[in-house]
Amino acid sequence: MPEVVQEDQAQSLGRKASYWRQALRRRVLNWFGAHARDLPWRRTSDPYRVWVSEVMLQQTQVATVVSYYERFVARFPNVETLARANEREVLKLWEGLGYYRRARQLHRTAKQVVENHGGEFPSDFESVLSLPGIGRYTAGAILSIAFDQRHPILEANTIRLLSRLVASREDPASSAGTNSLWRLAEDLLPRKKVGDFNQALMELGSEICSPRSPKCAECPVSNLCEVNRLGLQTEIPAAKTKTNYENVNEVAVVVWRGNRVLLRQCREDERWAGLWDFLRFGVSDSGNRRRTFIAKTVADWTGGFDRHHR
Ligand code: ADE
Repeated sequence: MPEVVQEDQAQSLGRKASYWRQALRRRVLNWFGAHARDLPWRRTSDPYRVWVSEVMLQQTQVATVVSYYERFVARFPNVETLARANEREVLKLWEGLGYYRRARQLHRTAKQVVENHGGEFPSDFESVLSLPGIGRYTAGAILSIAFDQRHPILEANTIRLLSRLVASREDPASSAGTNSLWRLAEDLLPRKKVGDFNQALMELGSEICSPRSPKCAECPVSNLCEVNRLGLQTEIPAAKTKTNYENVNEVAVVVWRGNRVLLRQCREDERWAGLWDFLRFGVSDSGNRRRTFIAKTVADWTGGFDRHHR
């Protein structure tokens, strides 16, 4: 059985031969050595600073984060100073970055690190993952960058890069698609320089393997890339299926008789097929016309209930 499972996983991963993985690691790391942007959080392996940078980078572009990061760590140089801070000051330093929940969680986490870990940022995966605002990606980023631990990362840029490398047509937003990509990210990790490798993947994804016009001619792994070989850059990964929202005006009418309420089961061709609902239908007019329309529709649906009560 184990062989079968491994084979299945290998297939769904489009698992590559070990020489392919080795070549990829070497080229990605060499490229990063030559092209890595000089970013302030890359000059440190202090887990506190790496953590602050990764939280800021969660929903914000690198170029925007730089000055915020510098001001933040100048004012709060370590986890103790942040834990002791007034929340209003933390939020003030965050002003303009958006997603302010991140700042509150950062503050809360600093207090937890002081209380539960003696002020030292934890270095085991489970402890880091249990901290507020830290998911699998951020935990992997912090531990690989600060401690060179072997954990994969997966975020928007690496999702695009990895999907293209293996020409995966799976929807990266589906759980099967996400699982395959996590496995691939894990499979690709080198033994050492894991933090550099992870950052290199993010950098390659954002700077070279861009969504619409990837710069394949400048890419260090273009001849290891399945999408490049097939010329499918614009098709993979598939554009997110855009949800088209439609405005509808509906009324739900609650019909009582004594202490009983009228419910109906939605037909198979209706939006909430099979579910029980009050009388619900679309309306377009307003005012009196709407009221008349509602009364008539309720009468139709209840077969004279309306008349009975007049
Ligand atoms: N995006 C998130 N984390 C990053 C990092 N460490 N370097 C570059 N881009 C990132």
